[in-house]
Amino acid sequence: MDLKKVMAELEELIRDIGKYQLTRFNQEIKIETKLNSSDLVTEVDKISEEKITDYIREKYPTHSILAEESGKIDKGADYRWIIDPLDGTNNYAHGFSIFTISIALEYKGQTVLGAVYYPKQDELFTAIRGEGAYLNGNRIRVTDREDLSQALLATGFPYSLIDMDYSLKLFNNIVKKAQGIRRTGSAAFDLCNLARGSFDGFWELGLSLWDIAAGKLIVEEAGGRVIIFSRENGFSLVAGNKIIAGVLLREIKSLG
Ligand code: IPD
Ligand code: CA
Ligand code: CA
Repeated sequence: MDLKKVMAELEELIRDIGKYQLTRFNQEIKIETKLNSSDLVTEVDKISEEKITDYIREKYPTHSILAEESGKIDKGADYRWIIDPLDGTNNYAHGFSIFTISIALEYKGQTVLGAVYYPKQDELFTAIRGEGAYLNGNRIRVTDREDLSQALLATGFPYSLIDMDYSLKLFNNIVKKAQGIRRTGSAAFDLCNLARGSFDGFWELGLSLWDIAAGKLIVEEAGGRVIIFSRENGFSLVAGNKIIAGVLLREIKSLG
C-alpha cells in the first residue's frame, strides 16, 4: 500500500468529519451513558464513526476494523483500522472545545499510520512509521527537557472507578514534583501536544487502544517514547521524551 496516498486521502475525510463535529458543537444533541455517568456517547460520536467506517469499508473492503462505538469487524486481514471517532466526548457534551478524531492503521499488528485531528484549531497531526511526525505538514518534535520540576505534564482519569484511587495517588505525588499538570479530557490530544513539544510528559491508566493507537505513533515519530507498563483493565502508559518517560515510569513504580 502507498501509505502517503492513503494518508492524503484520509486527511480529506478527517477534516470533513471535524467540520461536521463543529457544526453540531453546542447544539441540542442526543447523549447517552455507557459504563457509568462519566462515560458518554453522543449521536455525533455515532454518526462520525459511521462516516469513517463507511469510507474504509468502501475503499478498503478487505481490511479489518476496530471502532469504539460499533466494535470489531474482523476479516482476518493484515491491515486493521483503529478508530476513535470523537476523543473527548465528555468535553464535547459540555461545550468544551478540546475534542479530537483519532484514526490509526496497523499492518500485521504494528501501527504504520496515525492521524489525529483537532477541529477547533484546525490542527492535523500525522505520522507514517519511519517518516517523522507532522502538524499541518510541518515537522514536530518532543522537547528535550529532562527535569520533572521544569516539566508540564498531562494526565487523565479512567472512567472505570476500579483504578481511580490509584490514579489519584499517582496524581497527588507527581503534581508536587512537576511544574504543572493539565487534564484536557482527550488522550489523543494529550499525546499530540506532547509530540509537538507543548507537554513534556503524559501518563494515564486504563486507556483503550482507540485512544492511543494513532497518538502513540505520532509521539514515537516525533522522537518520543511511549511505555505501556500494564495491559490489565486497559492500557496504562507513560510517555515523554526518552528521559521524562523513564522518570515518570520510575515515579509510578516507586508508588507501588
Ligand atoms: C476518553 C478521553 C479521556 C480519557 C478517557 C478516555 P472518550 O475518551 O481520551 O481523556 O481520560 O480515559 O476514555 O470516551 O472521550 O473517547
Ligand atoms: Ca477516547
Ligand atoms: Ca470516543
